[in-house]
Amino acid sequence: MILRDLILINEKISRDIYRLVVESDSFQNSKPGQFVQLQIDPEIFTLRRPFGIAGIDENRVEIFYRVVGRGTKFLTNKKSGEEIDLLKPLGNGFNFDSAEKIFLVGGGVGLAPLLFLSRKAVNKKIHVFAGGRTQDDLFWKDLFNGEFTGFVSDRFPFDELEKFARDESPDLICTCAPEIMMRGVARVAKNLKIPCQVSMEKRMACGVGACLGCSIDTIHGRRKVCKDGPVFNSEEVFFDE
Ligand SMILES: Cc1cc2nc3c(=O)[nH]c(=O)nc-3n(C[C@H](O)[C@H](O)[C@H](O)COP(=O)(O)OP(=O)(O)OC[C@H]3O[C@@H](n4cnc5c(N)ncnc54)[C@H](O)[C@@H]3O)c2cc1C
Ligand code: FES
Repeated sequence: MILRDLILINEKISRDIYRLVVESDSFQNSKPGQFVQLQIDPEIFTLRRPFGIAGIDENRVEIFYRVVGRGTKFLTNKKSGEEIDLLKPLGNGFNFDSAEKIFLVGGGVGLAPLLFLSRKAVNKKIHVFAGGRTQDDLFWKDLFNGEFTGFVSDRFPFDELEKFARDESPDLICTCAPEIMMRGVARVAKNLKIPCQVSMEKRMACGVGACLGCSIDTIHGRRKVCKDGPVFNSEEVFFDE
């Protein structure tokens, strides 16, 4: 039994993205779409930071993080062998068991939870669509199982996605990306009457449903992204389209 979570790898992958692998025995039953609340340093940062689970291999959990602020910058200095504290798999995760053909649409580090999904969905037909600003942002191609279509552009080409969806008729689309991109993906899904699940991102404090800090409007009223989500059916959350 592992008593403390231990950093095994903390490596730079691209311009501003790092890959963190932590030894921990609390994640074996995690679902793609769930996340961890990572304590960067309790003496400096009161709040934990949420990160999607990108993969589980026995007692190792893998995370990809983008350096955006003080906490993630601090995290880059952590070395293998150091202890770190992860709050167990949180949130609901994607519901993809009954789908056979799945489109995964991601932008930036939003591809991390989709990577976990592709690794779990070994017997399903997966087509990944990734958006990036530069070719360097598409390093994900080497990590995914299944077909991979990358777009280097400032604006994700939703018309191309729609064309692929018409041709291939997936029975589910899962997306994790900046909200503006997920709204576009949800519109494509709605046009073609394909179920679509979106992983919402909100700043989080507790991460376990206690502070209301991450509440959003849904067709069912206010819901907490950390506890009721982060994954929702697109029509529950993008109902004003
Ligand atoms: C469910 C969930 C899963 C996530 N998964 C990942 C992941 O796999 N990889 C990854 O790199 N990031 C992920 N994030 C975002 C990540 O939590 C933030 O980037 C991180 O907390 C920033 O910490 P910081 O101290 O470096 O930035 P801060 O100094 O706290 O903030 C720097 C800047 O980032 C913005 N920011 C901070 N947190 C968020 C947030 N949650 N949403 C939008 N903007 C934010 C701030 O407004 C500010 O402009 C996820 C967020 C959520 C809610
Ligand atoms: S972060 Fe506290 S309720 Fe969601």
